[in-house]
Amino acid sequence: MQPTLDIPILDDLDAPKQVSVTHQGKRQVYLETYGCQMNVSDSEIVASVLRENGYGLTQDEHEADIVLINTCAIRENAEQKVRRRLGELRARKMKDNPDLKLGVLGCMAERLREKLLDQEKLVDLVVGPDAYRDLPNLLGAAEDTGQAAVNVQLSREETYADIAPVRYDTNGVSAFVSIMRGCDNMCSFCVVPFTRGRERSRPVASILDECKSLVDNGYKEVTVLGQNVNSYRDGQNGSTVDFAELLYRISLLSPDLRIRYSTSHPKDCSDALLHVHAERANVCNYIHLPVQHGNTDMLQRMKRTYSREQYLDLVERARKIVPGISLSTDIIAGFCDETEEEHRDTLSLMELVRYDHAYMFMYSERPDTYAARKYTDNVPEDVKKRRLQEIIELQTRVSLEGNRAEIGAEHVVLVEGPSRRSDAQLSGRTDTNKMAVFDRMDFVKGEYVRIKVTDCTSATLIAEPIGRA
Ligand code: SAH
Ligand code: SF4
Ligand code: F3S
Repeated sequence: MQPTLDIPILDDLDAPKQVSVTHQGKRQVYLETYGCQMNVSDSEIVASVLRENGYGLTQDEHEADIVLINTCAIRENAEQKVRRRLGELRARKMKDNPDLKLGVLGCMAERLREKLLDQEKLVDLVVGPDAYRDLPNLLGAAEDTGQAAVNVQLSREETYADIAPVRYDTNGVSAFVSIMRGCDNMCSFCVVPFTRGRERSRPVASILDECKSLVDNGYKEVTVLGQNVNSYRDGQNGSTVDFAELLYRISLLSPDLRIRYSTSHPKDCSDALLHVHAERANVCNYIHLPVQHGNTDMLQRMKRTYSREQYLDLVERARKIVPGISLSTDIIAGFCDETEEEHRDTLSLMELVRYDHAYMFMYSERPDTYAARKYTDNVPEDVKKRRLQEIIELQTRVSLEGNRAEIGAEHVVLVEGPSRRSDAQLSGRTDTNKMAVFDRMDFVKGEYVRIKVTDCTSATLIAEPIGRA
């Protein structure tokens, strides 16, 4: 069976995103973002810092004086995509606009640091994810001296807590709220601890203030972000607020505000957190719970700190405490020394859990990681590809079966806007994070609408609207 085209696979995370707001300033900046939701959220901080300092934002790269690319380093092909893009921009700078300033922000800036200046000649600015407050100075320096400006200092404290982000997605319905930065987990395959630095949590009061102001401005959904939200901890003022408590407090702000989060590491997904899902109607019935692999030895080599059995046990507890909870995952195929039998354990775990959705990747070795230093990337490319294909086919089937089982069921969706295929239809997500499309009628974005599922694909529910919810 061929995977359908509309199931997000591989690097859909790496498609560039753009600010949808524009304004005039002393110099116009075009900002393009690759990578995960954290990077999108960071670009909102970058936009805010620039605006505060008199810079304008444009959606037209041809009218920009400054082009900034917020980059991702998670897999080799994510970096290649950025390098191709930088190549294009460099060619334009040489040919049409020698005054154009080119900047690399984010995870590639952090990973490659000064090396970027040699590898990507004509880059004027290299700025790591903890140095965005310094952007106006760096830009000023690059413009005044004509020399490249670099700040890749990582911080143990920076959370940008006091910076009100320029909302990237001006649909006015859903927003990202970043609650922590960095990661201390050191999974052996992963570059993030190197590009994002040590884990630190943003103070609870500033998170609640930001969510409250979103509610006051009519937002209906927040996605709370961190590389590992479950280890959120704000220990100030004598008492400690953990992630379950934080989520609970956000959920009290307004019954009309739906709350999602990403990403939660299975090792510290607590029963208290599951109970918040069960008790609070506006905390969505959905957890992204990346397993990475289905075999305990592999999980150990990956340094994930849980076994297959512990993970399955957690899934069982989640389903018991929160009936009907929807689960999604991330899976890596072809990690170092993976045998055929170990690969089959991933497939069997997927059959057991029956995820609603999965992001599936081929292992890509990242320099400096534990795996790069201690293991050998020894699964041949064609074997990796075939294993990934098997994983995708299985997930496509399971997703389709899961969606078929929804036919006849009713859900409440939050309308996000017109569907991708037709203006006569709207799209919105169920509480369980499934995308549904249905006739527009007189509904508008930002409304909660009750729908009944009539048909589906592996990635979308097709529904008829019943009425406002
Ligand atoms: N903090 C998140 C993951 C962020 S990276 C978490 O721990 O869940 C998103 C996903 O990219 C990971 O879950 C993993 O599946 C994948 N990934 C990370 N490093 C990778 C690598 N070197 N090769 C292939 N996939 C990788
Ligand atoms: Fe990477 Fe692991 Fe941290 Fe996730 S938890 S960002 S996979 S090191
Ligand atoms: Fe990529 Fe950095 Fe996110 S490496 S996935 S942009 S944290």
